[in-house]
Amino acid sequence: MRASNSPQAVGSENASNPDTQFRQPDNCSIAVCSAIAMYEQELERHRATESRLRDSVLREADLLREKDDLIVLKDILAEESEHRLLNGLQLITSLLATQSRSTKNREAAAQLSMAANRVATLARVHRHLHTIEKLEGVEFKQYLERLCDDLSDMMSDESAERSLCVEAAELTIPRAIATPLAFIASELITNSIKYAKGRITVSLQIMPNGDATLSVSDDGPGLPELFDPAATNGLGMKIIAALVGQIHGELYFAKGDHDQGARFSVLFSPQT
Ligand SMILES: Nc1ncnc2c1ncn2[C@@H]1O[C@H](COP(=O)(O)OP(=O)(O)OP(=O)(O)O)[C@@H](O)[C@H]1O
Ligand SMILES: [Mg+2]
Repeated sequence: MRASNSPQAVGSENASNPDTQFRQPDNCSIAVCSAIAMYEQELERHRATESRLRDSVLREADLLREKDDLIVLKDILAEESEHRLLNGLQLITSLLATQSRSTKNREAAAQLSMAANRVATLARVHRHLHTIEKLEGVEFKQYLERLCDDLSDMMSDESAERSLCVEAAELTIPRAIATPLAFIASELITNSIKYAKGRITVSLQIMPNGDATLSVSDDGPGLPELFDPAATNGLGMKIIAALVGQIHGELYFAKGDHDQGARFSVLFSPQT
């Protein structure tokens, strides 16, 4: 096709203008005219596709923005509900402590004070877990170290021979297991602090089959003869047994290292 006969864009200085139309030359043959018409139809189809693509890109961008907004909202709501939970637990702790102080009956006052301590422990568990929680779960070694730091502070005014150490493998545990497990650890360590006076070791081991064991051992006087965790007067063992059941774990107890003291172990699957 010669330059003079070839289709020319009107306003060809702006070829990207979507309204650009082709002018058919006056002396154009039928074959050329129909080729130009087909070309125009094809161009129209491309423009329609381009416009649809542009719309869907815009829609996708809107959806992405909406998704980001929802993630931010979810984080704000999670933060808010954690905050309310902690406030609620703090309120219950102070109500129980106040009631304990105003109760004349010493036994009832002691029970109320113990209940206040347990609710405070639950609040501490939630606060620690919340600060170290990641998307995949809770770094449980880090949690145990923080818990033991807290409890060590509480024992620091007692005998210098006391020690609380953590020997833990790196393990990330889903929150649904980490919360009960954290409470179990707290109850077991509290018992060792209460009944033993020397070295307390908290360990977390991963088994070859992927299961894990949390153990607390001490070198205290050891468990009473014929110890049955289900038949003790204390509330701690009952709470521990219930929480071990909740995570489908198994509770074992034995003598501690060098046949001394007591050792409690919880075998659990970090995946369930
Ligand atoms: N580390 C330990 N060393 C020696 N005895 C222990 C140890 N842990 C638990 N026991 C024994 O098991 C019993 C039951 O423990 P449990 O935690 O249920 O009760 P508690 O600690 O006495 O009371 P509570 O937990 O309700 O404050 C204790 O009274 C104690 O005799
Ligand atoms: Mg106890």
